[in-house]
Amino acid sequence: MSKINPFKPNHPVSPSMFVGRIFEINALEKSLFQTKNGYPSNFLITGERGIGKSSLLGVIKPIANGEVTSLNYEVFNFISINLVITPRTTLVVLMQLIEKALKRKLENIEKAKDFLNNTWTFVERIKTLDSKVEKTKSSDRLDLIIDDFVYFLAEICKIITNSENEQEPKDGIVFFIDEADSSSQDLHLGYFFKMVTELLLQHGCCNIMFIVVGLPNVVEKLTLSHESSMRIFNHLVIKELSPEYSCYAVDKGLEIGNKINSKITTITSDAKTLISTLSRGYPRFIQQFSYSAFEFSTNGEISTDDVNKGVFVVGGALDIIGKRYYYRAYNEQIKSDDYREVLSIMAESMNSWVKKSEIHDKFNGADHVVTDALKVLSSKKIILKNPSKNWEYRLQYKGFALWVRLFGEREKLYSTDVSM
Ligand SMILES: Nc1ncnc2c1ncn2[C@@H]1O[C@H](COP(=O)(O)OP(=O)(O)OP(=O)(O)O)[C@@H](O)[C@H]1O
Ligand SMILES: [Mg+2]
Repeated sequence: MSKINPFKPNHPVSPSMFVGRIFEINALEKSLFQTKNGYPSNFLITGERGIGKSSLLGVIKPIANGEVTSLNYEVFNFISINLVITPRTTLVVLMQLIEKALKRKLENIEKAKDFLNNTWTFVERIKTLDSKVEKTKSSDRLDLIIDDFVYFLAEICKIITNSENEQEPKDGIVFFIDEADSSSQDLHLGYFFKMVTELLLQHGCCNIMFIVVGLPNVVEKLTLSHESSMRIFNHLVIKELSPEYSCYAVDKGLEIGNKINSKITTITSDAKTLISTLSRGYPRFIQQFSYSAFEFSTNGEISTDDVNKGVFVVGGALDIIGKRYYYRAYNEQIKSDDYREVLSIMAESMNSWVKKSEIHDKFNGADHVVTDALKVLSSKKIILKNPSKNWEYRLQYKGFALWVRLFGEREKLYSTDVSM
């Protein structure tokens, strides 16, 4: 009988399968506590693709809105607003989405609902503003829109946190804004956060918190939009999981699997260590490798052989991850096997700096090819040039480096002898 595979390589993990990140959860909980008590602080969470940013949000959200008790504090009672930025999101659309989300969340708070329905509708206000500011510059229009939006937000927050309400007062509002790296220049995201947070305080509204999430390049985007926008955030950089947590993630997945399947699946300790070693703590790799090993195991116990097959077989975990994330960079952006060899040599050092001379020593071809490869790979931003040292380069992303390494190992070790 076929079993349900409990691993989740393609979605943020559910809180029940989530492991680690204790430092980050503590820091975010502390901020919720501060914000609830009128000392708001905001977070920017960055990290490479698949490192677990959205999964972390998935754990913090139920803590913020009180579905789950916090680790360190009492139960929180924030209104949480979830937003995902796309390249098409404009400032007006963003504010409309916030208005819509608030309307849904405030259904049961009469005063807030009245305010939203009778006093304030953003679309109407934008139209009024548009007619008023026809002759003004677009930057003035931006300021007017933000000013109006902040007034609305501050009023709503005061209503819902008011202890004289018939309903239980809320702790405030938390905005969870994912994929902020996708923002277009027209969204003026850095400017928006800087202005909104400052104006909220001027309006005496101190119970609103922003948690913004994105790839590392979001820092550059925010700074380009407003050079001091980064100052309003505490910055959390999400890194790989430790080997212990990597093994624990496998255990948790199996535990859930064993609850939903009638037949039990176990894993040998060597197989678990192999998943942890091969994945180097990258959550997306842990989940995909575990998923594929689970598929290969037939006798109820996952062995190292199942893991190796699951990862390296043609069409297995490496190919699945490659298709989703890396084939474009590896096969389409790089047109030469020589350049791919240079990349593989560099990936042996993951994403640490590598001297050009070291690459020369290991490369099986003419010196000028290395020079050309470094030029082309740099121009495509696949590798970076060390700004403070000549002739040093590194891969931009560790996840990509890991994949290139494993892909190279597959070519060397498994191209002929791994079979379904
Ligand atoms: N703490 C964790 N414990 C167990 N598995 C995790 C954890 N964090 C992430 N994962 C797994 O890793 C994968 C990537 O997670 P997630 O989607 O949260 O990453 P992300 O950083 O948001 O990625 P992206 O940059 O593509 O949006 C998912 O398969 C998820 O199940
Ligand atoms: Mg994500």
